[in-house]
Amino acid sequence: MLSGLTKKEKYESLIPQIKALVEGESDAIANLSNIIAALKFSMDYFWVGIYFVKQTLSPIVNGKKELVLGPFQGPVACTRIAYSKGVCGKSWELKQTIIVADVEQFPGHIACSTLTKSEIVLPVFNKTSEVVLVLDLDSEHLAGFDETDKIYLEKVAKIIGDCVNLPM
Ligand code: SME
Repeated sequence: MLSGLTKKEKYESLIPQIKALVEGESDAIANLSNIIAALKFSMDYFWVGIYFVKQTLSPIVNGKKELVLGPFQGPVACTRIAYSKGVCGKSWELKQTIIVADVEQFPGHIACSTLTKSEIVLPVFNKTSEVVLVLDLDSEHLAGFDETDKIYLEKVAKIIGDCVNLPM
């Protein structure tokens, strides 16, 4: 944990470390796993993880896509989230970062843990501007995320996008 620093200073220190972690490595899952671990253990987050946009396996909604859990750090989480559902599905639909100061006030919030009080979800894009995954960070505190988190986590989302857009 980077203690004694402001949030901005923590991100300023963390982002070059994240870039260095993935430099020269082309395996997306290895890079994403390390990025998630670096985020979780550098900042005061309760849960950090990725949901990939994948083809659904359900015969009922055949041919559609849904979010499927990827690398994460924290307690066990729900495995699949439908388009537009919860904060993650809404971020995918709107193609926008969503900050939720109080999850109980967000209609349709999906509670993977009752300890989560606030969250931020960021979409990650491919080269043709489609959402390929979302990055989800949860806090045990109300209003745990603000514009500073948005600015720096969008930089992390860009690094993640570069990782997943590399040929595997
Ligand atoms: N709360 C999210 C679901 C994922 S968990 O927080 C890990 C949502 O509403 O989409």
